[in-house]
Amino acid sequence: MSTLEYLHFLADAPRVDAFRRAIEAAVAPGQLVLDLGTGIGTYAMFAARAGCRVLAVEDDPVIVVARGLAADNGLADRITFLRGRSERLEPPERSDILVFEDFAPHLYHPETAEILLDVRARWLKPGATSIPRSIRLFAAPVCCPDTYRTLTPWPDDAAYGLEVGRLSSEVLNRTHAACWGPAVLLGEPAELARVEPLALDPFGLDRDLRWPLKKSGLLHGIGLWMDLELADGVLYSNAPSGGSSGWDQQLLPLVEPLRVEAGEEIVARIMTLGPSPRKPEWWSWRVTARSGKREGNTFRGTPLSSSRLQEARLDGRPRLTARGRHCRDALELMDGCRTLSEIARELLARYPELGGEAEVYKLVAGELDAARAEPARQPTEALAEVRSGK
Ligand SMILES: C[S@@+](CC[C@H](N)C(=O)[O-])C[C@H]1O[C@@H](n2cnc3c(N)ncnc32)[C@H](O)[C@@H]1O
Repeated sequence: MSTLEYLHFLADAPRVDAFRRAIEAAVAPGQLVLDLGTGIGTYAMFAARAGCRVLAVEDDPVIVVARGLAADNGLADRITFLRGRSERLEPPERSDILVFEDFAPHLYHPETAEILLDVRARWLKPGATSIPRSIRLFAAPVCCPDTYRTLTPWPDDAAYGLEVGRLSSEVLNRTHAACWGPAVLLGEPAELARVEPLALDPFGLDRDLRWPLKKSGLLHGIGLWMDLELADGVLYSNAPSGGSSGWDQQLLPLVEPLRVEAGEEIVARIMTLGPSPRKPEWWSWRVTARSGKREGNTFRGTPLSSSRLQEARLDGRPRLTARGRHCRDALELMDGCRTLSEIARELLARYPELGGEAEVYKLVAGELDAARAEPARQPTEALAEVRSGK
């Protein structure tokens, strides 16, 4: 993410302030707080300022800025910054409280499940609590012509004399970010799910919902958003009716809008599907109104070739691509003895097809970042050395 995005997170005052109040209400001095996805360290600093010790975990290089900010605020001695993905790091000790906010936009996502299950198993003490304490996912039928127009700029699927229906179908079988006010709602919101981040079992959806419509209009899809209970009496929501929020809502679009009338009832079945009940990989939605039925499924919206699906079979026998071999060798050569320029030279000797020093160095730098090895020197110095053939 860019530093500007983190600045925008910080500027989202309703959210940041709600988390600040929740942290101040929920933590006690001396406790160990795990701020997972610390970004620029805002929540870690709130917890440290409240007298806690903090483990602040972040995968993004922005953690360097977070360290600096903690020092600038006189809180560096209470915050331990750990760079990397939490799933791959070794926790130095178990924490009393988890602060986590990087929920995928629609909550049910395999990565979210993986992160939270790992945190519960390895990072937290028994009986640990979380901020947020619980999350409620809401759904409502929406009429949102502006959002829908951005997904279907050619309603007749003819663009510049080309037939683009296949593209529209992919787009309309996906979930999309939206930024709505209450005017889009055709019916009252219904709770689709309630999740406690530390009790994820089962982590999937299969719900039938009904809405008596309060307004007539074109039904473009089902809108989703979240209400978070952060701590006692501290709530945060990105509901269309809730004023401004930095978090987008989500649209499960209909492949074709349906005309609906006030007073009629529409019915929807919303499901997540995946290889296991804990791995919600795809979303499926079926909507029935008087004027017709529509179905959407993010599996259809994912451009997977049949060969890619074959490879993903559990009894498949995957083989490294040329790129995979280059990356494997780059990682193996990072043995703590070779310099960056030696690694780059060796790779170029093994794989002349890599084409040139700049290409090799880009590969090494990428793997270095992925492997989190500490570079001994500045990358530009090493590149200069490779160039001069030293
Ligand atoms: C929405 S931002 C949070 C920003 C942060 N609270 C702040 O105020 O700056 C989510 C952050 O979580 C990080 N993140 C998500 N999952 C992570 C994981 N498993 N391990 C480490 N960092 C993670 C992302 O890199 C991203 O910086």
